[in-house]
Amino acid sequence: MIIKRFDRQEELDRYAAHLINTIVREKQHPVLGLATGSTPVGIYKAVIEEASRTKLSFGHVTTYNLDEYVGLAPDHEQSYSRYMNDHLFKHLDLGKGNTHLPDGLAADPEAECRRYDEMLAQQPLDVQLLGVGHNGHIGFNEPDAQLHGRTHVVKLKEETRKANARFFDQAEQVPEFAFTMGVGSILKAKMIILVARGGDKAAIVKKALQGPITTECPASLLQTHANVIVLLDADAGRDLI
Ligand code: F6R
Repeated sequence: MIIKRFDRQEELDRYAAHLINTIVREKQHPVLGLATGSTPVGIYKAVIEEASRTKLSFGHVTTYNLDEYVGLAPDHEQSYSRYMNDHLFKHLDLGKGNTHLPDGLAADPEAECRRYDEMLAQQPLDVQLLGVGHNGHIGFNEPDAQLHGRTHVVKLKEETRKANARFFDQAEQVPEFAFTMGVGSILKAKMIILVARGGDKAAIVKKALQGPITTECPASLLQTHANVIVLLDADAGRDLI
């Protein structure tokens, strides 16, 4: 595991963006695993900026997102589909149909999970970008006595709903359930970029990277992966030895 700390957010953003864009530049059929939330916003900006400056096409790129709320339409303001479109997709020359998120409105959620896993099996992820929740969740794989390997529907913990309430007008509007890629699918990515920012993430970053490997802290499972790059700002990394 490589851990890098940055004094300035823009440096972190540019570093992460360059890792992603290098894969896009070098691979014939790059497959990117993407995340939402506040952590990747600056990274996506930097991806777009570098792509535009270096005339890098994303026409041959396929993307898979980690998760989506159950019950939100793709164009709902708070859906992850809308987030991805606003922050990244509409700014790049991605091919139509090459960007994938679980369908929040799927009539048969179980079938939707199978469909997503079948696509992922066909197109293994070259890289997975991850943020981390305050409780150690990755994707929406919440701390528990056991975790799922594959895509599944999860009931969000109250602390996660509270953390995400800042994006909604009212806390009760945060959906109770979400689709998420499983930990097995995340760990199958050839490279994982884990990003954390801010002092409120310092304790969980320490637990995840230097604590015991346990399903009670899903991000700690990243310690078992051979190719993880962790990008931290100074505050998020302050408790690491
Ligand atoms: C988002 C996701 C979540 C977030 C995590 C951190 O697609 O899968 O695991 O990465 O909740 O969220 P932020 O970045 O908002 O602190």
